Amino acid sequence: MRYIATAKLEKEMVLGLDIYHGDGSLLFPKGTVLVYGDIQKLQSLGCQGIYLEDSWGKGVAMPMALSEELRQKSLEIIYGLFQDEQLPNLSQADIQGLAEELVQELISHKGSLYNMRDVKLYDDYTYFHSLNVAVLSVILGIPWGLGKEELVELALAAFLHDIGKRYVEPEVLSAKRLLTDEERVLIVQHPKLGYEFLRKHFAFSEKICLNVLEHHEWYNGCGYPLRKSGGEIPLYARIIKLADVYDAMTSKLPYHEPLLPSEAAEYIVENAGTEFDPELVDIFQKKVALYPAGCEVLLSDGRSAIVMENCENAMLTPRVKAMPSGELLDLRTDQANGLVILE
Ligand SMILES: [Fe+2]
Repeated sequence: MRYIATAKLEKEMVLGLDIYHGDGSLLFPKGTVLVYGDIQKLQSLGCQGIYLEDSWGKGVAMPMALSEELRQKSLEIIYGLFQDEQLPNLSQADIQGLAEELVQELISHKGSLYNMRDVKLYDDYTYFHSLNVAVLSVILGIPWGLGKEELVELALAAFLHDIGKRYVEPEVLSAKRLLTDEERVLIVQHPKLGYEFLRKHFAFSEKICLNVLEHHEWYNGCGYPLRKSGGEIPLYARIIKLADVYDAMTSKLPYHEPLLPSEAAEYIVENAGTEFDPELVDIFQKKVALYPAGCEVLLSDGRSAIVMENCENAMLTPRVKAMPSGELLDLRTDQANGLVILE
């Protein structure tokens, strides 16, 4: 499988992965042979890119990912949390069970990397984002040394971190215009609104609710709402903060086009110690692929290549397949010849 920007899609290309709406319903199943109307639909829904099944993508070591079933179920539950009419049907046990399944899947992939570009639709950003932040948070939490119960708490706080945005109109969240002062104040209040929502509707522990409240604190004390710093900020909130910024920067949002994973990673590394916990940034650098599997890169000899596989601690030098020859190169060894990834 390989990743391709929606703008480069052509008819008769074949989908490599299912594509879901933010509520977990299926938009296109994998194996769909795209017609012109499908491509237009993907563009109109604000999809940045998708995974294709074709000969160039053959042999790509597809990253650990959640099973399709769990991904779909997660989106359904997260979506339900944001809908007033569905909320009464959701029990705390459903959400708890989801967090346990997510942690179980991720810890059973030993040495799992965050090694894939997400396929998400612009208007449903908040639901995809909540799921991604949970996945990335757990991937960072495992090497931090958290035990299983702690990872489940972390996953819960991450699923719920932006639940306060249910008080903000979807139109405001995806607005491509300048927000009014009132709308901006409401958005800044979402951690507090989320904390209060959880206290009112569920019986999650105070620890989980506090981590939701503090997911916009900065390591240097310049965040909000409590302006705590360093180790005063609860650990899960520090992890969620990093995962949140990474996923937001690599997504299409009202105020910016998506950055490449390598560009977002550069920002995070530059802001270690100010915005982010530096110890977590170290882990992030080992666990999040700069050039995710299946993506096309430009090599320093001018050739394009598909990233075949990433290895922990060597995110600058994945295994790649050069085009059009199909030659396989391990940049860790070919590095000696000076071959590097330019972009
Ligand atoms: Fe947030």
